[in-house]
Amino acid sequence: MEFDPYVTRVNSKLDFYLANPGSLAQIMRYSVLAGGKRFRPILAYCTANLFDTDLDKVDSSCCAIEFIHAYSLIHDDLPAMDDDDIRHNQPSCHKRFDEAQAILAGDGLQALAFEVLVNDSLLDSQTKIELLSVLTHAAFEMAEGQAIDLSIVNQSVDICLLETMHKKKTGALLSCAVDLGATIAQCSQADRLILQSFSQAIGLAYQIQDDVLDVEAPVGILGKNQHSDRDKNKPTYPSIIGLSESKDAYQQLYKAASDALKLLSVDAGDLQLLIKKLQIRTF
Ligand code: IPE
Ligand code: IPE
Ligand code: MG
Ligand code: MG
Ligand code: MG
Repeated sequence: MEFDPYVTRVNSKLDFYLANPGSLAQIMRYSVLAGGKRFRPILAYCTANLFDTDLDKVDSSCCAIEFIHAYSLIHDDLPAMDDDDIRHNQPSCHKRFDEAQAILAGDGLQALAFEVLVNDSLLDSQTKIELLSVLTHAAFEMAEGQAIDLSIVNQSVDICLLETMHKKKTGALLSCAVDLGATIAQCSQADRLILQSFSQAIGLAYQIQDDVLDVEAPVGILGKNQHSDRDKNKPTYPSIIGLSESKDAYQQLYKAASDALKLLSVDAGDLQLLIKKLQIRTF
């Protein structure tokens, strides 16, 4: 597919940054290199590329955000959180190793995310500070969203709280990916605001769709256990507003994201194509 070169690119950089032979780094490798759609790096590369940015300068941000994402998934699967045994078609980190090592692998990945940015010799200090500010803020929001998620198990909540939770636990990192690309590209403030509208819409859409896929993804496609939300009695979009209403909700958000892009000062063909692919994703 059209975005494969970005996936290949970020995979080779992730592999490079995870070369440490130590045992914790090997556990981090196990989870990061197992797969994943690399959607956040694709977003960062595509955004930067809209403004003809040197992609060598974007590699560290793409790895950093994927490390934060991978850490969030390792912790998300822990028994104290979603208690899921399968991720990317292989035993979750705590199943393959143990809970303590999985917690530490997440901790290590979060630290490594910041380290790769700080040590990137292609970026000037001011840019690094801006990138770190964006990334640390999003990492905190993700954790806040996860905290809400786990505090409302077995509860009936209103859709506003669910929306807030989704925007934080998932939307924050997706918006961050776009923001990292825009920061390195040094695009205008006007374009930046438009990109924020775009990324906030896809951020929420992406998690609503994840909730829908948990209900009805074709067997064996997800790479993780299906019905995880239902089995843990988690409030989700489908459980609160219904399945077909949830599909309408995320399709409307993708449409809003697409409309926002039309206002950019540059042609956003790649991001428009990315939205089309997202609309029909099956995992
Ligand atoms: C899964 O994210 C968890 C969410 C935040 C929705 P992805 O679907 O992007 O995870 P990958 O592709 O397996 O890394
Ligand atoms: C995960 O949401 C969000 C984060 C990991 C931050 P989910 O718990 O729905 O993700 P999956 O379905 O396990 O991938
Ligand atoms: Mg979860
Ligand atoms: Mg989960
Ligand atoms: Mg899910």
